[in-house]
Amino acid sequence: MQHFASDNYAGICPEALGALLAANDGHVRSYGDDEWTLRVADRLRAVFETDCDVYFVFNGTAANSLALAALCQSYHSVICHRLAHVATDECGAPEFFSNGAKLLPVAGEQGKLTPAAIVEAVTRRSDIHYPKPKVVTLTQATEVGTVYRPDELRAVADTAREHGLRVHMDGARFANAVAGLGVSPADLTWRAGVDVLCFGGTKMGLPVGEAVLFFDRRLAEDFAYRCKQAGQLASKMRFLSAPWLGILEDGAWLRHAAHANAMARRLAGGLAEATGWPAIFPVQANGVFVHLPEPVDAGLRARGWLFYDFIAAGGSRFMCGWDTAPETVDRLLADIRELAAGGE
Ligand SMILES: Cc1ncc(COP(=O)(O)O)c(C=O)c1O
Repeated sequence: MQHFASDNYAGICPEALGALLAANDGHVRSYGDDEWTLRVADRLRAVFETDCDVYFVFNGTAANSLALAALCQSYHSVICHRLAHVATDECGAPEFFSNGAKLLPVAGEQGKLTPAAIVEAVTRRSDIHYPKPKVVTLTQATEVGTVYRPDELRAVADTAREHGLRVHMDGARFANAVAGLGVSPADLTWRAGVDVLCFGGTKMGLPVGEAVLFFDRRLAEDFAYRCKQAGQLASKMRFLSAPWLGILEDGAWLRHAAHANAMARRLAGGLAEATGWPAIFPVQANGVFVHLPEPVDAGLRARGWLFYDFIAAGGSRFMCGWDTAPETVDRLLADIRELAAGGE
C-alpha cells in the first residue's frame, strides 16, 4: 500500500538504483576522491550552469545545519519562516552546529518569507544585546507546498544583500519547484541571489543523501573539515554520489518531480470536485493541505491510510512521491468521498 505521510516513504527510483549497482564494482578511492563523485559534481555544475563547490552529506538536517554554520558566527542570527524545517524539525541542529547562532522565525503568507518581514527582523534592534542578523534561509518548495517565483526570490535576496545578509536555500523539494515553475535551476538559485543550496535527493528517489552547492565558493572555505567533524564525510562516498548520476543524467529528477506534482494536482482537483473542500494552500509542488472533518480523518486512518496532521499550519498534509500511482490517488479519493457521505 502506498501512503501520503511523506515523500520519503517511497523507495529508490530505478535510475538511482541502477547507478548505485553500477558503482558497486571493484575498488575505488574513498572519502570522495573517486570517479563517481567527481563526475556527479561536474554534472551538478552543468545542471546549474556554474562552477560551484559541491559536497555530499547524509541528510537534510546535516546539509542545512552545516551550510548555515558556514555562513555565520555563533553570535549571529538566521532569519527563517516560522514554519521552516530548520526551525521546527531539526532538533536545534542549526544552532548546535553553528555553536549557538539564533534562528529568528518570522511570519509570512503561504509559507514564504517577504522582503518586508526581513527588513522588520533586521531593523527591529541594532544593539549589542540582539544576535546580529547574518543569513536569510528560504525553503523551496516551501513546507506548505508553495513555491517562490524567481522574482520573489530576487526580491528577498536583494533585500538580504542590502542588509549584508547571506542567502541559504533549503531545497529538500527543489526538484518539485523547478518542475512546477518550468524555469532553470540557475534562475531559481544563484541568478536570483542564492549563495548556498541544500539540494535534496531522498525525496526525488535517492536512497540517501543531499548535495550542498556553494555558488559563492569563498563561503565553502574549510567546509570539508566541517563535514568531517560532524560525522558527515562518507568513507564510501561513491554510494552517496553515484545515485545522483542516475537521476541527473537523463532528466529523471525532473520527470519524477513533475509526476509527483501532477499527482498532488490530481488529488487536490479530485478532492474539490468530490467534497468541495479546497486545499488550504495553492498546490504548486507535491503536497496538498486540507481541513478534513474529524470523522473523515479518523475514517481514513481506520482504513489504513497514513498522512500527517500538520500541526503548525493546521489541517492534514498529503504528500505525493516520485512513485505515487494515479490509482492510489483515486483510491484515496474514493475513500474520502464515501466517508464524507457518512460512510464508515
Ligand atoms: C523542508 C525540508 N527540509 C529538509 C528536510 C530533510 O530532513 P532530513 O534530515 O530528514 O533529511 C526535509 C525532510 O522532510 C524537509 O521537508
